[in-house]
Amino acid sequence: MLVPNSLGIVMIWNLDRRRVTIPFMLPTIAWEDGVIVMVDQRKLPAREVYVRCRTAREVGKAITKMVIRGAPAIGVAAAMGLALELRRSRASGTNQLATEFYRACDLLAATRPTAVNLFWAIGRMKRVFAEALRAGGSTDELKVLIEAEANQVHDADVASCRALGRHGAELFPVDARVLTHCNAGALATGGYGSALGVIRAAVEAGKRVAVYADETRPFLQGARLTAWELVRDDIDTTVITDGMVGSLMLAGKVNVVVVGADRIAANGDVANKIGTYTVAVMAKEHSIPFYVAAPVSTIDLDTTDGSGIPIEERDAREVSHLGASQLTPEGAAIWNPAFDVTPASLIDGIVTEHGVCRPPFTESLLKALARAECP
Ligand code: MRU
Repeated sequence: MLVPNSLGIVMIWNLDRRRVTIPFMLPTIAWEDGVIVMVDQRKLPAREVYVRCRTAREVGKAITKMVIRGAPAIGVAAAMGLALELRRSRASGTNQLATEFYRACDLLAATRPTAVNLFWAIGRMKRVFAEALRAGGSTDELKVLIEAEANQVHDADVASCRALGRHGAELFPVDARVLTHCNAGALATGGYGSALGVIRAAVEAGKRVAVYADETRPFLQGARLTAWELVRDDIDTTVITDGMVGSLMLAGKVNVVVVGADRIAANGDVANKIGTYTVAVMAKEHSIPFYVAAPVSTIDLDTTDGSGIPIEERDAREVSHLGASQLTPEGAAIWNPAFDVTPASLIDGIVTEHGVCRPPFTESLLKALARAECP
């Protein structure tokens, strides 16, 4: 029997003793022969293509170009990218190693502005590096420490998703008809998923679960990635276009909503994929509970409320084109914000690995963070 490692990768050797890798479960990102390998999320579900990154610069490019995306996943990718940069470094002393390390930190921090997990992961790696440097660590010791920390960021994210999944599953009715937006699944995290982690945990707990995945224009994370993950897990899945959400709710087909988050401000305002706000307003109108599922690495206490969250604007071509086909006439202006902010007043609960935070979020988020520091 083939047994996947903790990253969901099976290693086998073919007949002429060359190692080959078979993807198993959901291999979002993993080490392989000293380089980072990630599934190219732009190509799913049509093709499972794997991209290899040999430098932090290549990891940065993979984040910018959406080869890997999703808030926790890009945090994990950045941490691993820093470890990769050190692993490949030929620096003769710690000063040179530090210059290379901090340069890679800057490069990765400039990839995407909204998901705070990216900056959280880079900050964590910087602290470990600086402490080890102060303690007089050698270049080899620094490399080993940073790689161990990156692997810890990855493993801890999977553990957080599993824990928050269990908390969130308790919020679902026994017969759950769930709407989710974008992809907050294994592909968007170290593994298992946040919103999809809740869905998976509810299924594992024996609840009947049917999921509506909205398309999530323009990048189609819902139609392509969420549906792909759920179908692979044999979970009842229906894809709708974004404009159908209101009718779906009016028809009584949804009794709970769960989405992920890219950044949660101190007051509980949540930045997530563009369209989340519309779904939350609709859920409020139809008295359907609206939950956000995210590890505490997504909470940003330095941002008081949603107005302070930087919203990435992406290339107009994502809206004007579908693949090579142009959808819009020449001369039409395009606006393409990748995220929106859902005000805390529309959110019934924020599910973290340390339990479900309820309004007022200013207090409950602090409590979740305190539990993270002293488990
Ligand atoms: O632009 P993306 O695909 O990186 O946006 C992803 C989302 O908005 C997700 O919902 C969010 O990151 C949560 S992922 C667990």
